[in-house]
Amino acid sequence: MPSCRRTAPHASCARPHRIAFVFILFAALLSVSLPAQAASAAASGTTPLVLNHVTGSRALPNGIELRSGSAILQITALRDDLLRLRVGPSGTLPEDASWAVLPASRTTSIAVEPDSTPHNVGFHTAKLHLAVDRATLALTVTDNDGRVIIQTEATHPIEYHGSSFRFYARSPEDEHYFGLGDKPGPLDRRNEAFVNWNTDSYGWQESTDPIYKSIPYFLTFRNGISGGVFLDNTWRTSFDFDKELRDTWSLGAENGPLDLYILYGPTPKAVVEQWAWLTGATPLPPMWTLGFQQSRYSYYPESTVRQIAAKLRSERIPADAIYLDIDYQFKYRPFTIDPERFPHFSGMIHDLLAEHIRTVLITDLHIARVPNAGYKPYDQGIAGDHFVHNPDGSVFTGPVWPGPSVFPDFTQTASRDWWGTLYADFVHDGAAGFWNDMNEPSVFGVASKTMPDDVQHRIDEPGFAKRTANHLEIHNVFGMENSRGTFDGLRKLAPNVRPFVLTRASYAGGQRYAATWTGDNSSTWNHLRQTVPQLLNLGVSGFALSGADVGGFAGSPQPELLTRWLEIAAFQPIDRDHTSMGTNPQEPWADGTTQDLDLRRHFIETRYRLMPYLYSVAEEMSRTGLPILRPLYLEFPDASHDRHPLDFNNGSEFLLGPDLLIAPSPYPDLLDNYQAVLPPVGWYDFWTGAPVVADDQQKMRVGNDNIPDEDLQITLHPTIDQLPVYVRSGSILPMQPLVQSTMEKPSGPLTLRVYPPSSPVRSLREHQSCSGSVYLDDGISYAYQKGDFLRVQFTCSRTPQGLVVHISPHEGTFKPWWNQYRIEIYGATGLVQSASIASGPVTAAYDSDHHRLTAVIPDDGHAIDLKIVP
Ligand code: NOJ
Repeated sequence: MPSCRRTAPHASCARPHRIAFVFILFAALLSVSLPAQAASAAASGTTPLVLNHVTGSRALPNGIELRSGSAILQITALRDDLLRLRVGPSGTLPEDASWAVLPASRTTSIAVEPDSTPHNVGFHTAKLHLAVDRATLALTVTDNDGRVIIQTEATHPIEYHGSSFRFYARSPEDEHYFGLGDKPGPLDRRNEAFVNWNTDSYGWQESTDPIYKSIPYFLTFRNGISGGVFLDNTWRTSFDFDKELRDTWSLGAENGPLDLYILYGPTPKAVVEQWAWLTGATPLPPMWTLGFQQSRYSYYPESTVRQIAAKLRSERIPADAIYLDIDYQFKYRPFTIDPERFPHFSGMIHDLLAEHIRTVLITDLHIARVPNAGYKPYDQGIAGDHFVHNPDGSVFTGPVWPGPSVFPDFTQTASRDWWGTLYADFVHDGAAGFWNDMNEPSVFGVASKTMPDDVQHRIDEPGFAKRTANHLEIHNVFGMENSRGTFDGLRKLAPNVRPFVLTRASYAGGQRYAATWTGDNSSTWNHLRQTVPQLLNLGVSGFALSGADVGGFAGSPQPELLTRWLEIAAFQPIDRDHTSMGTNPQEPWADGTTQDLDLRRHFIETRYRLMPYLYSVAEEMSRTGLPILRPLYLEFPDASHDRHPLDFNNGSEFLLGPDLLIAPSPYPDLLDNYQAVLPPVGWYDFWTGAPVVADDQQKMRVGNDNIPDEDLQITLHPTIDQLPVYVRSGSILPMQPLVQSTMEKPSGPLTLRVYPPSSPVRSLREHQSCSGSVYLDDGISYAYQKGDFLRVQFTCSRTPQGLVVHISPHEGTFKPWWNQYRIEIYGATGLVQSASIASGPVTAAYDSDHHRLTAVIPDDGHAIDLKIVP
């Protein structure tokens, strides 16, 4: 029992006894209906069951079935690069059901080749090889090159303590771990331990765990090769990466199934795409959600909301949305409107829309327990028996904002469907997005901050056995199922409008229904810093559309902090300024000097100019699962000389899409110089257009040994008016004229910033070309799914005659707002001999300040080449 031999106290050691005890108490006294596996495990008390030898095996068409004493193990291949391990300690496999994994993926399988020796049993697929040691049950998954993707601990890979279990695997010292959602702390999860239990964590800090979400999934990275591990278990789960036990990672749960998915890249991007195959990608969001969003707890009354909207426009701060927090409601009752504060609610929403500002409404899941008060959500919910029960069958009541409240049972399809109908009036009023907060679920006045463990959920869901589960099993998926009810409801109410749902709590796969944010952060420099690793880890965990409260939620930022935060957030997926009640105003014009306001405006404007790129990256996300915000190792998995993941400055550098690298100071409050390191592909300064050159004195080797010293280390001096942003050489960046909202049609050409491979960089030897694309549609409907979209590909290539920029014909039927391209070629050093398209010469202007050559050419939807002869 390694977990209980530790000298240091650890949750995974102490907890099983307590959990087993609690469980037995429930099972015996409360007649709780629980999965057979859990029940029998509990019945076995706390005697540890160590699965450490194979007593029988049977080949399956898609894998293998093993016996280890009383236990059964099944390992199957869903794809050549994805295996699933399920364990039943008492001989019966756990229920084959999942809230996270898409049914079509979960039920996919491929044929495998049995592959056994006197020592091992196993099989192989076209990409992976599984060997299970008959003597020890140690399980090893290798790829075709013999690289180990996962290898369990040799002597006791799996242990059960009553109903809880732990799974141990080897952790080579050069293996790194990412994911687990937005848990605070460093980007790399190595040397840390975590628990998954969705928790309302107002005022969380860097070491707080758990916070709001449970995503029991991580990505491994070793020598440029990646895999992934997903424990599909909704109970309280825990992960340990080399913290408790040296050279070991482990995962476990207090109850529920040992149902593990093992993913194999070999690139980290392939793992991210597989994760999306397994649990779904973030759907294409409405374009307005990528605009700037203004929020606070709370804007009221109506006149204040109108003033904020007017001020956004008069100060010329581009913006797309205003959020109404809980104070717009009557007595904090969800789905009501305070008629005194908001006498013309629908009129206000429409007036804001006329100003190109959409309204997002908070709709918490707690329903006020107010019988006979004409409160529809309560009356209907009671009539339909939609609320969760206590063990005695009564409706569970707990206090939240409206006072005593009841909670829909989101594990029942019918209750989720009913929940979805509650949005009808707001959709009719013109509200554009909905905010599902407090859905851990948060309950006031109790130490646990949530509902009691024995609250009953009546699972009635396709794929699951119809049964009653206690809250311990459902807690971590409650928020996700809440946001699912919202998303599905909105789909029904407005079938041709892409919903926008923002959720605080969720589980693996929740990205299918909602975007997310990192909850109640604080207005401190450290929290600004935390946004980057949090959003990066959320992204590889599936939540590719996410943000942190800009400016910080708790407290008030000093002016420079707000300015800096608005600068950095302009390059993050969701850019929402939000703060708590009782704090100072935090809008872009709040506090600070004219320079602060100008800078804040300038960075938000830059975001809007980048909208064609941002939206194209979002579209890629919806197809592939690749996040909008990307860690460097995702794009450059083999760039470092010892093939460790690039997490320069502990993950303070990040990529927006594939081509923009943002390098804020790792300590944004310090005035000291700092070093940024850029992967070895050549970079341009986004602001000046100048190719980036390494520090003469400080060139540093971070490149692979067979890569010459081409990596760039640059010394940066932080000043409030500058945020270092670099563009990857070899990219073509689509940008647009400034607008004040995504609802405004840009006027002028689509700009294509062409960044030819610069020299001397590795990419020059690999390719002499560059490429990019733009995707566009109406930004709001599903017409794109029927072909009403636009996609245009761009390339540039160096030829003996000069540079050719090639633009492919329009794909799709959507008509863009432009009819010209403004081509900007960076890295130019002077005027050129000629610039021409097929129909004749075009004027090319040279701008030495920006190191660029500019030519405007027509776009009639057909392919066109611009030829530049230097
Ligand atoms: C908690 C949320 O995290 C916060 O964003 C919101 O403003 C408050 N609840 C009030 O609704």
